[in-house]
Amino acid sequence: MPRVLSTGMYVPERIMENHELSGLVDTSDEWIYSHTGIRRRRIAADHQATSDLAVLAGEQALIRAGLPAENLDLVLVATSTPDYLGFPSTASLVQHGLGASKAGAFDISAACTGFVYALETARAFIVAGTARHVLVIGAETFSRIVNWKDRNTCILFGDGAGAVLLGHSDDAGFYPSYLRSEGEGGSSLLRPTGGTRVPKSTGPDSSFVAMDGRAVYAFAIRVIKDSILEVLARNGRRLDEVKWIVPHQANVRIVDSAAKRLELPLDRFYLNMEDYANTSGATIPLALAEMDAKGLLSRGDLVLTVGFGAGLSYGANLFTW
Ligand code: ACO
Repeated sequence: MPRVLSTGMYVPERIMENHELSGLVDTSDEWIYSHTGIRRRRIAADHQATSDLAVLAGEQALIRAGLPAENLDLVLVATSTPDYLGFPSTASLVQHGLGASKAGAFDISAACTGFVYALETARAFIVAGTARHVLVIGAETFSRIVNWKDRNTCILFGDGAGAVLLGHSDDAGFYPSYLRSEGEGGSSLLRPTGGTRVPKSTGPDSSFVAMDGRAVYAFAIRVIKDSILEVLARNGRRLDEVKWIVPHQANVRIVDSAAKRLELPLDRFYLNMEDYANTSGATIPLALAEMDAKGLLSRGDLVLTVGFGAGLSYGANLFTW
């Protein structure tokens, strides 16, 4: 059975508080915190790209497990902000940066659900016997793709990376995940230009994140509840057995609404968007690494991770710590 061996995280040094944003757009700390639960976010230095953050998070996970990088069979990077458009993959850059000379590497693109998809991919590789040690990283540099003049989006995002190292165990493990997509909602959250649909930028801001916030909000509340109940039902486990639910950290109001629908207290969900904002594919591994460092996770705890985001994509993982 696959099992978590260790975690790691890296966030850039630069902290941007909400009040700094009120110098860029018409907003305030009070509005941002009351509408999102976000107080601050980390911003990558000019010389840092997504793979740099990912390597630092991955190195920490390898050191904590005492595993040499050459023992990795696979490096997966969940990201929507790759170093380069399309290729080379950020995962290949990370594989090289870590010195994982015997590993395959590829990126997983499922926006804020990317880490949930990546964790299931790692589980499947290990169950199939194709890989023994898989390093799963969520890493993002959203500060490079948000329009800092658009108050609807720039207040929400931050930069960071989290890593989870998976290996083998006889006594604990991962259950099959629940993964879904509703591609008909793709236009509610996208970067309109810069890909093959509209190859050349049609305007100064068209390759930035464009979002219908209310549509994404309504979608998120619905699919968080469905994903949690589905992954539990499929694996014959109950909600009251789950020690921690680790949701994608987009907005505390989204998590609060989902908690109410599930008739659960908010403190069953781990939340850290106050300090890091929405780091997209990195929020869940950042949360797991932070919980691990704080000693909040004990061997045998049942953990449920749930993600949602552009695609529109969503899903949940269930595993024993
Ligand atoms: N500061 C001050 N006022 C603002 C700001 C801001 N930053 N942003 C919007 N407003 C104003 C609006 O203009 C509007 O004013 P009006 O009533 O005069 O028109 C008012 O505040 C309310 O706007 P709403 O859009 O209704 O605000 P809402 O309460 O819905 O919050 C938010 C907006 C925070 C974006 C919310 O809709 C949300 O969190 N949506 C989900 C977004 C999300 O999670 N995206 C990431 C998905 S993950 C991924 O894959 C990348």
